[in-house]
Amino acid sequence: MTVALLGLGNMNGAILAGMLAAGTDPAQIQATGHSSEKARANQDRFGVAVTATDDDPEANRTAVSRADVVVLGVKPKDILSLCREISEALRPETVVVSVAAGIPLAAMQRHLPAGQPVVRTMPNTPLTVGMGVVGMAGGPEATDEHLDAVAALFEGSGTVHRVAESQLDAVAAVSGSGPAYVFLLAELMAAGGVELGLDEAVAKDLAAATVAGAGRMLAEPDADPAALRRAVTSPNGTTEAAIESYLDSGLADLIARGMQASAARSAEISEQLASS
Ligand SMILES: NC(=O)c1ccc[n+]([C@@H]2O[C@H](COP(=O)([O-])OP(=O)(O)OC[C@H]3O[C@@H](n4cnc5c(N)ncnc54)[C@H](OP(=O)(O)O)[C@@H]3O)[C@@H](O)[C@H]2O)c1
Repeated sequence: MTVALLGLGNMNGAILAGMLAAGTDPAQIQATGHSSEKARANQDRFGVAVTATDDDPEANRTAVSRADVVVLGVKPKDILSLCREISEALRPETVVVSVAAGIPLAAMQRHLPAGQPVVRTMPNTPLTVGMGVVGMAGGPEATDEHLDAVAALFEGSGTVHRVAESQLDAVAAVSGSGPAYVFLLAELMAAGGVELGLDEAVAKDLAAATVAGAGRMLAEPDADPAALRRAVTSPNGTTEAAIESYLDSGLADLIARGMQASAARSAEISEQLASS
């Protein structure tokens, strides 16, 4: 299977790192970018061919003309213009995959040839370390075979959940944006440690290593976050004091509101597109 990754920023970079770590042959992958300088740096970093639209305005069209699967990894605002740009160069059987938040399958289909199989995904950057999760929904032209081909891109580096397209905003709110929530937690824990008198470097290391270690425990088969939490929360102990303080201060509500804001932003992006 030949794969074209259009745009090689955070997300397509994470997908590529996962594919390479899972043993995909670099010769099967062609990536593109906008800036020629970044394309050269990415080519050295990943060991795959990367062309840039700065050097060659045909770079995206050339890449997709040879691909079985095309992954659109540009910002949501650029997805539809990229669909138009590659439209004439696509082979009819090539599957077009989007990783963009908020761009509906139907909108992409309007800017691609009739009948082109399209799949919308919501991956996350832990794919880079083999611990990603991906939500995936196919358009009407995407067969089970197409969905299997797209799932195979991710399966060496994460878990793929097939969901309804209407659930992808919720997937984005939980796992697409989720790594940033966890990084924020590590930042805030480090800041709290400094306030309690630790050196900044020590506090950062304690917080980051704790989040990473707790994440590894959660990755064990059948791990249950509530059970793991209860196991380290002795009655009337220090951890219970902290957890009660968080919950009394409304942490559950704050997290739910943040996730609603993420889903609302996806809906807003879709609406802006519909009216543009
Ligand atoms: N970041 C996340 O955690 C995350 C999670 C889930 C989904 N997503 C989705 O992933 C998509 C990309 O986000 P990102 O964070 O990876 O963005 P990013 O780091 O800014 O990457 C965007 C990439 O697109 C390239 N690009 C721009 N215009 C191009 C063109 N016409 N042809 C080819 N390449 C082009 C850019 O190249 P230059 O750098 O050379 O300009 C850059 O490599 C978004 O749609 C987002 O919704 C991201």
